[in-house]
Amino acid sequence: MNRQKVDLKESSYEIIVGKNILSELGNLITEVGDFSKIAIITDNNVGSLYLDAVRGSLLKKGFSVCDIEISDGEGVKGWRYAEKLVEWILENKLDREGLVIALGGGVLGDLVGFSASIARRGLSLIQIPTTLLAQVDSSVGGKTAINSKFGKNLIGTFFQPKLVVSDVLTLSSLSGRHFLSGMSEVIKYGLIRDPVFFNWIEENLSEIKSGNPEVISELVIWSCSIKAQFVQKDEREMGERALLNLGHTFGHALETYTGYSNKLFHGEAVSIGTTIAFQFSHFLGMCSISDVNRLIHLYAKLGMKHQIKDISMTLPSPKVLIKFMLQDKKVKNGNITYILPKKIGKCIVSENCSTENVNEFLNTICP
Ligand code: GLY
Repeated sequence: MNRQKVDLKESSYEIIVGKNILSELGNLITEVGDFSKIAIITDNNVGSLYLDAVRGSLLKKGFSVCDIEISDGEGVKGWRYAEKLVEWILENKLDREGLVIALGGGVLGDLVGFSASIARRGLSLIQIPTTLLAQVDSSVGGKTAINSKFGKNLIGTFFQPKLVVSDVLTLSSLSGRHFLSGMSEVIKYGLIRDPVFFNWIEENLSEIKSGNPEVISELVIWSCSIKAQFVQKDEREMGERALLNLGHTFGHALETYTGYSNKLFHGEAVSIGTTIAFQFSHFLGMCSISDVNRLIHLYAKLGMKHQIKDISMTLPSPKVLIKFMLQDKKVKNGNITYILPKKIGKCIVSENCSTENVNEFLNTICP
């Protein structure tokens, strides 16, 4: 079991990564607090696989437990489900000493985190992420969100969990497509901060693809340690944390265009968006073509979606993409914020790219 601290003073917590640790949950939770009641929220899919293990471990420790399974998919990430969950939490009489557990992937973690943050002005929360994307990214750092008709994640809170417990064995039940979707965020850490990690991913491709649990544990731990560094320095994304959004400005626009549907998973939008960010940076003369090609080569070797033509529907025009990008949270005074690579391992936040420049560039990659 590996334990890393996210150091945020009184909001500090641990990320625990290991194999077969769901059965240890009861013990791990007693280290964090003494909770009057625990509400486990999961989805149908994850619930059928892991709810018994999680509930069993808590009951064994003597906790009072209630649970609910909701539908899976991005469709739950809106007001309707947030309201349903908050009312369910209140109906089950969780008081201020109650604990909410989010057991599932990134969509569920964002929704449950948001619901826990507003129920009784904030209940304790533990994240048990069961997808690669959630283990390396969304469960760590305290961002919670639901979607608005105006764009993705536009409604939300910063609300740190009390603990994150990642059992890498849960990743073996992921579809190949979901696993690769999580790899976008893993690769992102190498691109923004750690060229050694990027090399390591290139060198361990076959073990990563075959799901070797030792290699996957290392990959999750390494990713979380990079994410924790960003969150510790800039919890509220006033500066450097924005680098974690590499590929997300273009990616969110693509997700809005595809209607947050199964046509394009979040991680797929991020890898396509990251390729576009590298190409845009090269177009601006900031990044070498060899770095662009090295990234594309890695995505291709893993079999990841990484080009705009990989979206399985009619492609958006530059005008449509720019319209969606202008709805992004990161727009300041009408200017879109881009995370632009200088090289593998180093990116910058840019708030002064003109829309004309972006339009001219997008015309070179859109039909
Ligand atoms: N997923 C980006 C962040 O947590 O800041």
